[in-house]
Amino acid sequence: MKTACVILAAGEGKRMKSSLPKVLHRVCGLPMLQSVVDTARKLGSGGVIVVAGSHIKELKEEITGADVRFVLQRERKGTGDALKSALPEIRDCRGSVLVFNGDTPLIRPQTVRRFLSLHLKGRNAVSVLSFKAEDPSGYGRIARDDSGEFVRIIEEKDADAAAKRVREVNSGVYAIESKALGLLGDITLNQAKGEYYLTDIAGLALRKGLRTAAFPIGHEEEFMGVNTREELLLASEVMRLGIVRAHISKGVNFIDPASVFIHPYTVIGRDTTIYPNVFIEGGTKIGRNATIYPNVRISRSIIGDHVVILDSTVIEDSIVSSGASVGPFAHIRPGSKIGEKARIGNFVELKKTLIGAGAKASHLSYLGDAKIGSNVNIGAGTITCNYDGKNKHLTVIEDSVFIGSDTQLIAPVKVGRGAYVGAGSTITKDVPSGSLAVSRTEQRNIPGWAKKRQARAEKG
Ligand code: UD1
Ligand code: CA
Repeated sequence: MKTACVILAAGEGKRMKSSLPKVLHRVCGLPMLQSVVDTARKLGSGGVIVVAGSHIKELKEEITGADVRFVLQRERKGTGDALKSALPEIRDCRGSVLVFNGDTPLIRPQTVRRFLSLHLKGRNAVSVLSFKAEDPSGYGRIARDDSGEFVRIIEEKDADAAAKRVREVNSGVYAIESKALGLLGDITLNQAKGEYYLTDIAGLALRKGLRTAAFPIGHEEEFMGVNTREELLLASEVMRLGIVRAHISKGVNFIDPASVFIHPYTVIGRDTTIYPNVFIEGGTKIGRNATIYPNVRISRSIIGDHVVILDSTVIEDSIVSSGASVGPFAHIRPGSKIGEKARIGNFVELKKTLIGAGAKASHLSYLGDAKIGSNVNIGAGTITCNYDGKNKHLTVIEDSVFIGSDTQLIAPVKVGRGAYVGAGSTITKDVPSGSLAVSRTEQRNIPGWAKKRQARAEKG
């Protein structure tokens, strides 16, 4: 039987004090809702439905996943009403419906899988995944009778002193059999908050003689809900540590794990060393035996084996092939590819530039929209003048070329294979292969000029 997943994400998230919808706030670089969506996609074969509110457009733009559908909750009338909005989308579902809150980013699929199998085994109509909270305030409390049987969920606002002391709380993950979804229509408006509480469905099911249970298999580190920025930081720290630990167990070496931020979907090869203050953002893959020195940010890039990224370097949407070295203080902008064993040194900026294998640009250069062959030497201070104020133009430097220091290459221009360009040249025409191009005015020396100048100055 197919399991459908519904994620409730239409809340405003007022407590975040932000114009960004709460569920799009990021934990380790991943929007909270994306985390929940990715977990749900691993569980449900009957599709994933996100219930969105007035921010539906932003959510659709940001969240990826081919089988994810969005439905609008017209008015923010509570979690019970939110699930009701999803009913047209799950009309054909004959099995269980898994419900998640969009603000619980740390949930792992294996725990929910276990929960679902307990739910099915118990032949329940409604099950709730619960956990023991260190501080239960804000969560719905799990009420049990004297024999320990689950009775209902009591929300904070409706809890008396005794209920408030209960530390077993509702995680916001539910399994509901499709045939019990009709109970949503029986939920009445909660007067204390003016909302229809989904949590009421458990008590209603029980009253109808249907089987219900709360399974306390969760842990706070996995099921904490994020309502405030402080909780967002807490969730980020839990996820950050989990990610670092997973990499450590796979053979990655960290000098100071406390100051490293790694996007959850990053792959890092064994024996790679990561120094302090390193940020590795989404879509990045790092090979084996690489070294990433301090204060580096790498985003959506592929870094090969044995690569060395020196201090304070930024790499975005680019590829660094094995054995290459980049930095310190380099900026590798989108669309660049650095070949094997190439060296990009201090204060070098690349944009949409290919650097051939073994090529070197060691100091102070801007190389944009350029194709640079293998074993090329780019002297210090070389600039590709790629922009004429209107359009960008290509610079081609073929294999084994030597570009002297402080050269400007006015694109479009090509330097042929094995050619030399004298230092201080402004290259405006193509340089044929094997030739030397020099373009600078000849030097003139005026003997004794300094002494004469001094004499003039003394005369006043
Ligand atoms: C909810 C539960 C609480 C549980 C806690 C777990 C209810 C009434 N309470 O409380 O028992 O312990 O989660 O974290 O469900 N949403 C909508 N439409 C709405 C209102 C909310 O889609 O009209 C969404 C929100 O975007 C959010 C989720 O539902 O992702 C939960 O809403 P929230 O206001 O955060 O509920 P809590 O007070 O945390
Ligand atoms: Ca919440």
